[in-house]
Amino acid sequence: MPDLIIDGLKVSVPTGTLVIDAAERLGVMIPRFCYHPALGGVGSCRMCAVMFADGPVKGLRMSCMVKAQDKMVVDTGHPEVLEYREHIAKLLMLHHPHDCPVCDEGGHCLLQDTTISCGHSLRAFQGRKRTYRNQDLGPLVAQEMNRCIHCYRCVRYYQEFAGGRDFGARRIAGGVSYGRYQEGALVSVFAGNLTEICPTGVFTDKPSRHQARHWDLERAPGVCLHCSLGCSVEVDARYRRVVRIEARYNPEVNGHFICDRGRHGYEYASLPQRPRQALVDGAPAPMDQALDEAARRLQAVTAAHGPGAVAALGSSRQSLESQAALKLLAARAGWPAPEFTTGSHRKRNMLSAVRGLSPELRVSLADIARADAVLVVGAAPLSEAPMLALSLRQAARKGAAVAVIDPRPVELPLPFTHIPSRRHDMEAALGAVLRRAFPDPADEERAFLEAFTGEMPEAHAAPGWEAFADQLGRAAFPVVVCGSDIVRLSTPDLLAGAAELMRRRLGRAGFFPVLAGANAFGAALMNTNEETSFDDVLEGIESGRVKALVCLEADPVGRFAASSRAFDALSRLELLVAADCLPSRTMARAHVFLPTRTVFEAGGHYANQEGRIQRAYPAHACGTPLAQSLERGHPSHDFALQAPGSAPLAAPDLALRLMDALGLDPAPAASDAWSLMASALPCLEGRLPDEPGFLCSPPGIGLAARPSPVPENLAVDLLITEQAFGTEELSSYGSILKALAPHPQVVLHEEDAATIELRQDEQVHLACAIGDAHCFVRMAANMARSTVVVPRRPDSGWQSAVARGYIVELSHLEKRGEGSGEEAS
Ligand code: SF4
Ligand code: SF4
Ligand code: FES
Repeated sequence: MPDLIIDGLKVSVPTGTLVIDAAERLGVMIPRFCYHPALGGVGSCRMCAVMFADGPVKGLRMSCMVKAQDKMVVDTGHPEVLEYREHIAKLLMLHHPHDCPVCDEGGHCLLQDTTISCGHSLRAFQGRKRTYRNQDLGPLVAQEMNRCIHCYRCVRYYQEFAGGRDFGARRIAGGVSYGRYQEGALVSVFAGNLTEICPTGVFTDKPSRHQARHWDLERAPGVCLHCSLGCSVEVDARYRRVVRIEARYNPEVNGHFICDRGRHGYEYASLPQRPRQALVDGAPAPMDQALDEAARRLQAVTAAHGPGAVAALGSSRQSLESQAALKLLAARAGWPAPEFTTGSHRKRNMLSAVRGLSPELRVSLADIARADAVLVVGAAPLSEAPMLALSLRQAARKGAAVAVIDPRPVELPLPFTHIPSRRHDMEAALGAVLRRAFPDPADEERAFLEAFTGEMPEAHAAPGWEAFADQLGRAAFPVVVCGSDIVRLSTPDLLAGAAELMRRRLGRAGFFPVLAGANAFGAALMNTNEETSFDDVLEGIESGRVKALVCLEADPVGRFAASSRAFDALSRLELLVAADCLPSRTMARAHVFLPTRTVFEAGGHYANQEGRIQRAYPAHACGTPLAQSLERGHPSHDFALQAPGSAPLAAPDLALRLMDALGLDPAPAASDAWSLMASALPCLEGRLPDEPGFLCSPPGIGLAARPSPVPENLAVDLLITEQAFGTEELSSYGSILKALAPHPQVVLHEEDAATIELRQDEQVHLACAIGDAHCFVRMAANMARSTVVVPRRPDSGWQSAVARGYIVELSHLEKRGEGSGEEAS
């Protein structure tokens, strides 16, 4: 721990800390452009100069290039330093436009802040400025090259940190510019971070351009709801509408960055078709009246058939308080406990993934970046939890070995070993890796390992798996990443057991589940009964046992695998009460519809996949965005006591108001959000709201798990899967990311495609039952044989396809006719 003096203040920092970071610990912000904490220093911009007045280093040096040492005496405001920085500011501004007041980055720009603080306002040099031609880089990132100061942050971030290959420095006609080799959308799902990493206005957020000046924005800390990682975000709103989302630094979760799904998935909140009006039998009604009507009809069903005839459904995108309010409502009304997932398989996988997360095995995204061996099983990080891929890349950059056991054609921005096992063979592949990594097991470990039968399936297709297993056996900090979407029911328990075995053998190991939904962890704890699921609710409706269904922020028609079955079942109900902020397919079927607020209006607590409770704060008032009612450039001149479109209530408030209308007393649970959550989650009792920490600490499952036998006579395995863009529920309502989602595709191994004479980009039906949807063939070599992958997006027909079961025949893929994806777009 070197001790040094900076600006007269003593500071002790860990060995290896740069002087620029040591100063920041004292609250001294040394100006910088090329240095970024995530990228390190390269000493190219010369802005971070400081004077080393005494000690082992002397003179004017760059603080981003010098490590703190004992007895250093640093002066960041030395007259020579200030003059030097002034010259650098002038130099950097030689070719830069002097137009901050009209620049898109104005008010949000490191270059603007620094030049002003250096006293630079007028350009001394009167020669011609160097100018560039800009590129169209797709719908997310705007480029204005004339503002570049050549700090190289963008290239270092995009290529080195994020592993992108389609962006770099280019030398054209005597000038260096930064972009793609040719115009077109940036390929990386982390491209939006360019708008934050660039210290000036070259790269800006395209969708939010010309929407608001930075100083006019309402800002609030938020949590991303587009996967289970719960990245920290900053929400920027203007005129009752979110206009931009940026990363919020969180050292244990997302660091400095977020993915483009998290950055651009917010449009659902301000869609013109967003429901803002309560409806009774399709007719508009005041909120109070609709609540009373819902209560009256629920009481009538209960009086006629008993409380068991009412079912309740929540979701994994609800906040913890919303889930808790639904649970409380059901408990007080005597209804069966609500379900929070559509599908028994997903519920049981989530439960077992959460069960394996003992405190000793819990790891964060930041921990994964520090791991030296990572085994990913049944998860496609770029599609299901994109920031996980960025953490894996940081681990790989430091030398970690990464292997993925997954039947899909997994892509990652890093070197890794892919073991393309069929879904039913993944456990055998896991067993082969573990047996090779730990060849001399102790007794209990031997019993665990011997339960895995079979050798590495299709070992020839996974070159390098032995080398990975050898490195895993020598690792100091291995992590097991566990998918919960496509894996078999026995797999999460086995993976938690594998992580526990590694912890016992190697001293430290991590288990990192990937769940489906921002608050899937909360959903798993709200109803832990493995014997019940939404399938039972549907059977109850079909058999006439269930007469009424209350859906709070849930869309069973849109999300249940067999949508036509859910649709038919809902049609049989005597009463469907739905409350949501989405114009969902379930809302359209509701007898009583109640509009809810979004997270941007209501805030809420969410537990990410580690069980880490995080709070999102409201960013703007609820109401129709003013921009939608502009008339000839002016806001509407209508005056009203309430903002138009402000009828929606926060989902927990709505559930409590429904309890009130039913004559049920929610007290004392309803006194505040924390008490409400604690009423549903005993692990929160006695804890303080401002110290949320982790949701619970399950004991783990040890080495008790056993693999499931592989079924005989397997035909082709149908996998319904996520994509980075186009499948996640909330973001799929918007238009920004739709432009980046590929056409709906059926993906299969190229040799399987050849056996039924399918070619790349041909259109196909799956099981002859996907209506008018366009599905195109994508052939891949890096995936399992006898596997067909279909994205879980509304226009792929996946819900019709799975209605026939998850096992299909290749012959079920029928050509629709000639054509290619490009032609049909
Ligand atoms: S585009 Fe921005 S980040 Fe890239 S070199 Fe220029 S100023 Fe730096
Ligand atoms: S990784 Fe997930 S939580 Fe993080 S920004 Fe992307 S979608 Fe949001
Ligand atoms: S920040 Fe140190 S030289 Fe650029």
